[in-house]
Amino acid sequence: MPQEPVRLPHERAAGCPFDPPPGLAPLRDRRPLTRMRYPDGHVGWLATGHATVRAITADPRFSSRYELMHSPLPGGPDGPLPPAPVGDLTGMDAPEHTRYRRLLAGRFTVRRMRRLADRVERITTRHLDAMERRGPALDLVEAYAHPVPALMICELLGVPEAEQDLFIRRSATVFAPDSSPEEQVAAYIRLTECVRELVVAKREHPTDDLLGDLTGTDLTDEELAGIGGFLLAAGLDTTAAMIGLGTFAVLTHPGQAAALRAGPESADGAVEELLRYLSIAHTGARTALEDVTVDGQLIRAGETVTLAIGAANRDPARFPDPDTLDLDRRATGHLAFGHGAHQCLGQQLARVELRVALPALFTRFPTLRLAVPPEEVPLRVNTSVHGLLRLPVTWDER
Ligand code: HEM
Repeated sequence: MPQEPVRLPHERAAGCPFDPPPGLAPLRDRRPLTRMRYPDGHVGWLATGHATVRAITADPRFSSRYELMHSPLPGGPDGPLPPAPVGDLTGMDAPEHTRYRRLLAGRFTVRRMRRLADRVERITTRHLDAMERRGPALDLVEAYAHPVPALMICELLGVPEAEQDLFIRRSATVFAPDSSPEEQVAAYIRLTECVRELVVAKREHPTDDLLGDLTGTDLTDEELAGIGGFLLAAGLDTTAAMIGLGTFAVLTHPGQAAALRAGPESADGAVEELLRYLSIAHTGARTALEDVTVDGQLIRAGETVTLAIGAANRDPARFPDPDTLDLDRRATGHLAFGHGAHQCLGQQLARVELRVALPALFTRFPTLRLAVPPEEVPLRVNTSVHGLLRLPVTWDER
């Protein structure tokens, strides 16, 4: 019997800041692939099962091109989305995607990541010192979760030290909850202008950083500025959200901070579990380029599949007791960084940052706690990356 298409459940339940929208689990429990009606009238699919999301993201018969996709949320265009801007890897397919991906992957080298690991230690220590000097109480997003990854992106792109403050202030406006959409767009344009100026300077005086390195390829200035802006958008908001929301989750689950303080191996596992449990990049999408059968169901060419990554990472068929945050579990195989050809290019950098920033915070402030009741911590709602607006924290001074 044909299924009646569902609408995407996208509202999180009040008082459950870490859980995917409650409407997803019953759909997943019934079948991992469900017919879905999009707000523009398109009838496509919703994938909620771990194995299903994994299979679709690994299959080149599914496209990532935005212009073939329908928005799963109200307020999107009345038809397919606009195409990806220059440099946005997530919205293109092979062979264009392969060319960019190869050029970039060759620059995310082990040597460069090791040097960045060194820098993240120094940057976190500096910010923890500053927090200690300011004393309790403060907003952890403003004092730590945003500036640490922002400075790391500056390091990756090779923003000169003298310009980093300006860069960080502009990026804060882009992602600031209180700034209007117009302010956000204006700040993003100014930021990509900064990146373009950086590219021009690096062409004249090449530097040993990712952008400097890329000036030695056949990429145009426009492509380089686009890639720089995209890396900033892909790498800053996400990692900042993980530090903020990750801290909130640990503070509201008594006893869990121990895993972060128990040495590098335990902290690495704890970070993977936080990535799985929080699944901040909660939703992805693909469109079938030809008819494809998945889980015994025929997805026709042109149909969009929304990938509920948050629900897939809570699939009991893959993770026992999936709704429990257990920082001692082995959460390998989660899909928080996606899967397949578009799997997150910055995941090693993100891991380096989280494996340093979270343990260092809980070790430096063993009495860290929320300064307000958990229900008063303001969340960002209806954004593609789940996170916090502010995280008021306090601690006992020594
Ligand atoms: C792609 C998540 C940090 C750069 C992705 C995708 C996910 C993701 C789910 C796949 C999108 C898709 O399949 O359509 C995350 C999370 C992060 C993080 C949860 C932090 C905890 C970073 C960082 C960087 C970065 C630090 C770089 C500085 C990228 C790039 C892509 C990507 C370039 C596109 C890859 C491609 O399409 O080939 N990320 N990301 N990400 N991410 Fe990340």
